[in-house]
Amino acid sequence: MALPAGAPRPDPIAYMTEVGASDSGRGVRERVLAALDLCPGQTVLDVGCGPGVNLPDLAAGVASHGLVLGIDHSPEMAGEAHRRWLASGPGTAGRVVVLQGDDHALPLAGATADRARCDRVLQHVRDPAAAIAELRRVARPGAVLTLAEPDWGTLAIDAPDLAASTAFTRFTCDKVVRHARLGRQLARLADGAGWAVRSVEPLTLLFGDFPQADRVLGLTRNAARAVTAGYLGHDAAAGWLASLAQGPFLAAGTMFLVTAEAPA
Ligand SMILES: C[S@@+](CC[C@H](N)C(=O)[O-])C[C@H]1O[C@@H](n2cnc3c(N)ncnc32)[C@H](O)[C@@H]1O
Repeated sequence: MALPAGAPRPDPIAYMTEVGASDSGRGVRERVLAALDLCPGQTVLDVGCGPGVNLPDLAAGVASHGLVLGIDHSPEMAGEAHRRWLASGPGTAGRVVVLQGDDHALPLAGATADRARCDRVLQHVRDPAAAIAELRRVARPGAVLTLAEPDWGTLAIDAPDLAASTAFTRFTCDKVVRHARLGRQLARLADGAGWAVRSVEPLTLLFGDFPQADRVLGLTRNAARAVTAGYLGHDAAAGWLASLAQGPFLAAGTMFLVTAEAPA
């Protein structure tokens, strides 16, 4: 059986827009928004804001005299976030400014933020602990921080060949995502950076549709890479993918949402 050709890496802007608009993506965004508990007039950061999916909700939460700072290290992402915000017809919502910047060295003075969110960013950065400490530097006393990251070690994919599913999860953790098991470590790292952790919530995302899971989890693309890297045999990978595509399909993975406060 031939291994299906791996789909090319999706365009990151289209990918993040699709994930943000999906049922599970919307659920996480709503949960984060509730945990932030925004008030009119506040300054709120969206660190690693991507194409700006969350900026309108944040701007509505801080209202017309509040300020939203979207920050992303990618000039394409920051540019797209800025364009979308202008195109959205901001109305009476708070002011939004998008900056290009790295979350290890935010382009902000100390103690400037009342609220900050960082969602699916730290798994990619060089030093997540340093980035969480940098968020502490820019937080005002009493500021609330939400961190949300997946833990790819929890990725469970049903298949007749469960050993292949396990090998795929191991490959994803070892070779695909830089800090794949960050979700479970977030609360400890936040505590170590001087944040007072208020809650830790596991948010499990369920996928029942193979094409959607394939786009979000990169099943076909990364199975081919797992074969090259020796984690899966060619025939095992081909049979595994065929069974997933045939269905019924079920996969799940857990994100961890940590809410923390900057001590006064
Ligand atoms: C998966 S996207 C998350 C998008 C957004 N947080 C959301 O909730 O829709 C990850 C984003 O983090 C950004 N990023 C990665 N490393 C970064 C860093 N060191 N500093 C700032 N942004 C970074 C990427 O450019 C990308 O836009």
